[in-house]
Amino acid sequence: MTYQTIKATPIAGALGAEISGVSLSDELSDSVIAKIRNALLDHLVIFFRDQKLTPEQQIAFARRFGPLEEHDFVKGLPDHPEIIRVVREADETSLNFGGAWHSDVTHQECPALGSVLYALDVPPYGGDTLFSNQYLAYETLSPGMQQMLAGLTAIHTARGPFGPEGRSKTNWQSMQVEPSAKALEEMEHPVVRTHPETGRKGLFVNKTFTVRFKDMTEQESSPLLEYLFKHASHEGFTCRFRWTPGAVAFWDNRAVLHYALNDYSGHRREMHRVAISGDRPV
Ligand code: SIN
Repeated sequence: MTYQTIKATPIAGALGAEISGVSLSDELSDSVIAKIRNALLDHLVIFFRDQKLTPEQQIAFARRFGPLEEHDFVKGLPDHPEIIRVVREADETSLNFGGAWHSDVTHQECPALGSVLYALDVPPYGGDTLFSNQYLAYETLSPGMQQMLAGLTAIHTARGPFGPEGRSKTNWQSMQVEPSAKALEEMEHPVVRTHPETGRKGLFVNKTFTVRFKDMTEQESSPLLEYLFKHASHEGFTCRFRWTPGAVAFWDNRAVLHYALNDYSGHRREMHRVAISGDRPV
């Protein structure tokens, strides 16, 4: 599909397209930004190769899609608190950041609209990121299951990754993570979310932040949640992005799960991530 000056080339049947014909460090016109936004809505995650972005330029590009937010638990760059460094050094052996299927910051009342991830240092092999289309995850459920899920609310919390006893205590040694009691707070979101721009319904639960259904125990919720987590990342709903230095991924966090593969032991990987503010899921 072409959007006049820019071109989107799908990388998989389910979602994902590489965009060519645009340099993100330029001051882009409103019309180019609108085309990029359309490409994002159509393909759910879009990729740009061979970009050269200073922190200011990455921030300026992402800001064209909405205000940026600072991460609740990961300290940003000293001069650019909106940017977090997603980094794993060559000698680290623990779980990597983002190494489970998730959408970003769903512990928040208004989880991010999307994230823009820029590759600074990539391993010679491995370290790919997988993405999964949650419209397809919802649409392929049976009408009976869809109807049942429509009445359910899920509880999300950041206590697993970022609570005082959470995974950040043992993982992500090179990142500036600040676990806190704030991670114990709980947030309600609908299990099926209607996308605010496309009007399409998608599944909206993820293994990192969703802990149970409202008014049910974790034990009661677990069988159905586990089923949904597995279904949500079925191979047929996914695409896989091979990073190269200077590549950028921009995903629609409202309709996509992602997963950073941890298969590059002995090599360094460093990305800069910014998150664009989103709205309250309905
Ligand atoms: C993340 O979950 O935001 C990190 C993704 C990645 O490093 O590929």
